[in-house]
Amino acid sequence: MRSPDLARAVDLPRSFTSWVLAHGLQRSLIQRGARKGDLISRMVMDVGLRLDPFPAYEELRGRGPISANDLISASVDHAVCNEVLRSDAFGTAGGQGELPRPLQWLHHKVIDPDALGPVDPPSMLAVDPPLHTRYRKQVARAFTARKVGRMGDRVTDVAGHLLDELAGVEDFDLIERYASQLPVTVIADLLGVPEQDRDRLLALGNEAAVTLDPGLSWRQFRRAEDALREMHTWFRGHVERISANPGDDLISQLTLLEGEDRLDPVELHQVGLLVLAAGFETTVNLIGNAVAMLDGHPDQLRWLQENPDGWGNAVDEVLRHQSPVQLTLRIALRETEVAGKRFLPGHGILLYLGGANRDPAVFTDPGAFDVTRPNADQHLAFSAGVHFCLGASLARLETAVALRTLYERHPGLHVAGRPERRETRVLRGFERLPVRTTARVAA
Ligand code: HEM
Repeated sequence: MRSPDLARAVDLPRSFTSWVLAHGLQRSLIQRGARKGDLISRMVMDVGLRLDPFPAYEELRGRGPISANDLISASVDHAVCNEVLRSDAFGTAGGQGELPRPLQWLHHKVIDPDALGPVDPPSMLAVDPPLHTRYRKQVARAFTARKVGRMGDRVTDVAGHLLDELAGVEDFDLIERYASQLPVTVIADLLGVPEQDRDRLLALGNEAAVTLDPGLSWRQFRRAEDALREMHTWFRGHVERISANPGDDLISQLTLLEGEDRLDPVELHQVGLLVLAAGFETTVNLIGNAVAMLDGHPDQLRWLQENPDGWGNAVDEVLRHQSPVQLTLRIALRETEVAGKRFLPGHGILLYLGGANRDPAVFTDPGAFDVTRPNADQHLAFSAGVHFCLGASLARLETAVALRTLYERHPGLHVAGRPERRETRVLRGFERLPVRTTARVAA
């Protein structure tokens, strides 16, 4: 058997080809566009924009509902994003739709099945119906409103337990000790993941999360690939353990499927790993973004503490104003027209969910943060159409419980220190959010 280091070295040419096709070509074209001042290229590439993408969204909005460069279209328009996401004329086209067909074929040949990421087929996020319908049907059973509703008590217990562990600790990193721990514990329960594996999975998920971003550098790609490989190896062992001793978790249910419902091992990996990673890599951002926003709006926090029924709407307002997933991509599957623009098959459109959620045609004074906004839930933060987030009600529940419990226990909790944003561009959240539990001392 080859050592892991030798295997990594032998696989280098394959890995490099995979990077060139998935990111490298795109990266050099986008970089060239960005150097020429093209707005869409800048929005994809400029690392500064991950700190504050909103002025660029407004610049794009000023140019009309859909803008385009030589390569791709882009929109921050709520009606356009909603229409494209719901249209069967657009799909994810295997995540590689923007490559010419021969290169797509080559990419499928060279991609390492043990390092497939969340947007590589057959991940649910990267396949279109009817294959998508087949996977989604199996997983959706675990996320019915009734099942999620029953998880409320468990989520409250987890939040309480995490805060118990922090008893007497005045200063801590909210992301590390609370916002990441709560969702990982809940999703790990759902997927039968042993407690001792959770922190390692969190670290790996964090490293692999950049694979959602377009145009990765070779170094970023290699690092993420290593993390994905380790996750796949872990998952293989997890499936073996579970198959030997099935429980009532989702992975056990998926391994027990029979007949035409049965998932092959690659499908099982991609479906299982996506639910696992989506379960903890997104909600952490929502909880962190919420605490940061409420810190900047203490009057609204006070109002919520006096009106706890408002937490649900507050969560939607954070989803709208600080969308944890800022961007997704769709490819035209056939010739079609949206907002007067003709799309030929294979043409892609970047859908800025975070920009659509600030569309003044839908939201009054969209830049203002207002936890009582009556139509906050009209956001597209969970996407729309067939890929609408499967974990939306779980994420809403987890976040409302996390925030209510946190501020009940520590009414004076505030940000104390310099927050650090994550380096990801599709995911918007914090890497570090230092907080202090005692009340802020007036200056
Ligand atoms: C704040 C938290 C979350 C946000 C903002 C979020 C956002 C999204 C978005 C935008 C998509 C669709 C992307 C697209 O259309 O291209 C999506 C899909 C998905 N999400 Fe979430 N998500 C969150 C939490 C969760 C949780 C907690 C789970 C699982 C427990 C989950 C599981 C999934 C799955 C499985 C899909 C793929 C659905 C499909 O392709 O049919 N998400 N999510």
